[in-house]
Amino acid sequence: MKEFAVLVTGAASGIGKACVERLLQDGTQVMCFDRDAESLKRAFADQQQSVAQLHGDIAIRDDCRAAVEMCVDRFGQIDGLIHCAGIHSSRYWSDLEAEEFNRVLAVNVTGSFLITQAVAARMAARRSGMIVLTSSTNVITGGVGGQAGIGGPAYVASKAAIVGLVRSMARSLGPSGICVNGISPGVTDTPMIAAYSEDHRAAQVARSPLGRIGTPDDIAGVACFLVSSGARHMTGEIVIVNGGATFG
Ligand SMILES: NC(=O)c1ccc[n+]([C@@H]2O[C@H](COP(=O)([O-])OP(=O)(O)OC[C@H]3O[C@@H](n4cnc5c(N)ncnc54)[C@H](O)[C@@H]3O)[C@@H](O)[C@H]2O)c1
Repeated sequence: MKEFAVLVTGAASGIGKACVERLLQDGTQVMCFDRDAESLKRAFADQQQSVAQLHGDIAIRDDCRAAVEMCVDRFGQIDGLIHCAGIHSSRYWSDLEAEEFNRVLAVNVTGSFLITQAVAARMAARRSGMIVLTSSTNVITGGVGGQAGIGGPAYVASKAAIVGLVRSMARSLGPSGICVNGISPGVTDTPMIAAYSEDHRAAQVARSPLGRIGTPDDIAGVACFLVSSGARHMTGEIVIVNGGATFG
């Protein structure tokens, strides 16, 4: 049995998948969770030795608990969580119904809390653990108003809530030896931004001193650091990873 086991949500695609790939390169054992069973199976079919998989819905408490229990059953422990599962909504403010708003909050906010709660219950017993949640740089810019594939109010509000959740849980879980931090990616080339127009992509490139849109691995590098022992004296922080698009 290896010594480090990390649960990654949203593992079937984009940033979550890149996190799994990085963790596996480092010899970490990975519990993959996603609602997309087929993509999950395809993504890591040749990694059976170091990967366990479960499909489920992050907004359902029992699914979150099942993922944590499966990780402990398979690897003997759970040392880290990188929570990437999330949904986008670009619905313009005037077209946005309460039902859509609540759907986004249920997945992005309640789901983040439920998986943190499930993981923390196990970690607290060992007085050790590293948790990473995912916000968005849209929280700083406000998105650009919705539609055209750009973050609308439901998405931006949900990602702002993650900042509060990180800080609240960092205070609650610190005395149990658990660190809780967040990553705040800028525009990153994943299926989530597939609807972005060429103009919007070009505008994002122009905002970054590095002159490019982020790759999933750009974000995964920071997320994986935050579950490593190198980050053991960090908690309650939100780390912006956007090629410098919003500093200053
Ligand atoms: N791509 C970007 O530009 C960008 C920017 C800032 C923040 N983010 C955030 O990064 C995270 C990862 O996004 P991505 O770009 O990799 O997107 P993605 O769409 O490629 O991946 C998201 C994954 O989450 C899974 N998922 C969605 N709802 C779920 C649910 N209810 N239960 C379980 N799994 C569910 C999907 O099946 C998918 O595999 C998200 O939280 C997103 O909001 C992305």
